[in-house]
Amino acid sequence: MSGCCKITNIVGARPNLPKIAPLIREMQRHPEIEPLLVHTGQHYDENLSSIFFRQMGIPPPDINLGVGSGTHAEQTAEILRRVEPILLKQQPDLVVVVGDVNSTIAVSLAAVKMGIPVAHVEAGLRSFDRSMPEEINRVLTDAIAEYLFATEDDAVDNLLREGRPPKSIHLVGNVMIDSLLHFLPSAQQSLIGEELGLRNGKGWQSFGVLTIHRPSNVDSTEKLAELLGAIDAIAQQVPIVFPVHPRTRQRLSQAGIKRHPQLRLIQPLGYLDFLCLLSKAALVLTDSGGIQEETTALGVPCLTLRENTERPVTVSQGTNVLVGTNRSKIVAETEQILRGDRKRGRTPPLWDGHAAERIVKILLRRGFVGEAA
Ligand code: UD1
Repeated sequence: MSGCCKITNIVGARPNLPKIAPLIREMQRHPEIEPLLVHTGQHYDENLSSIFFRQMGIPPPDINLGVGSGTHAEQTAEILRRVEPILLKQQPDLVVVVGDVNSTIAVSLAAVKMGIPVAHVEAGLRSFDRSMPEEINRVLTDAIAEYLFATEDDAVDNLLREGRPPKSIHLVGNVMIDSLLHFLPSAQQSLIGEELGLRNGKGWQSFGVLTIHRPSNVDSTEKLAELLGAIDAIAQQVPIVFPVHPRTRQRLSQAGIKRHPQLRLIQPLGYLDFLCLLSKAALVLTDSGGIQEETTALGVPCLTLRENTERPVTVSQGTNVLVGTNRSKIVAETEQILRGDRKRGRTPPLWDGHAAERIVKILLRRGFVGEAA
């Protein structure tokens, strides 16, 4: 590849940040690349955005589109409208998008229509559940992106089945695990254990971590009450730390659900404190996608409060068990883990901290425009 390449990297929501951090770090190591960063502003709270920039050393965005919250149509349309003039001005050779949030598809669509190639990092994941907004974002982004960087074999199979050209598809590993491995030593210095009273001079006490924010779990009061009923039963046995996503907080206050005192509701945590808790937890209950992968990499038991996952390798090779939202199943699986009878997983291939290196190497080797597809 000759000359300088301008790459516009896109972030919008919290889970994008640990994925973009190692990519930008790697791009900065190559003087022939000029990395730019655009934040759509889909997430804007300090705890969902700025703290991640500071802790992970992500450079401040060149531009923040400031789209904020809204319905899916409003948010997606606003990103499309606001990013087009920015891309016109920047004239990048490539746009890099990560994950499956509304910012991912909106910017991909704007870029491709302007003739700018798009690289999708974390391509090919499929839950096969089209009621999930993220599934629509994934399918559409992969249909138009020119570079498809996959984390696991199933993702490669999905892309091939959907007719994507084999030479566009690259199995490279997992950039989020690049971040996890890079920041784990700093995360272990976090004082969150002391702050929450989970750690004293003798070490850590047994505790669980809970995160729920999927619309399918929190937007219905009945479903949320059923889930928290199960968590209540677990909290009688072990303290559960519950950093509450803003979407969930709104629903909880509307629903007025009672909770066990050992279920500890706290504000969303920064990356390092959260990683520290994940790495020390006896078990994690979640409906997040990324946390299924992080627990697999850490070897920590994960019960996923969903009927499906777009990350099947975390079940087939990792520590993840799909438990859905049925109370007795959640409680039974938790008790099994607390008795010490837990799934021992292994780390999937290429989740070794070098995914960003592989991605940048491929981009440099192939040149950007028009060669991949
Ligand atoms: C979004 C992503 C989801 C991802 C999640 C991670 C889509 C379709 N959804 O869901 O895939 O797992 O981020 O967090 O892209 N809010 C705040 N502060 C903020 C951002 C949002 O208070 O900084 C509140 C707003 O009331 C907003 C609600 O949270 O309406 C939901 O935010 P939104 O970005 O629409 O979706 P998430 O549920 O965060």
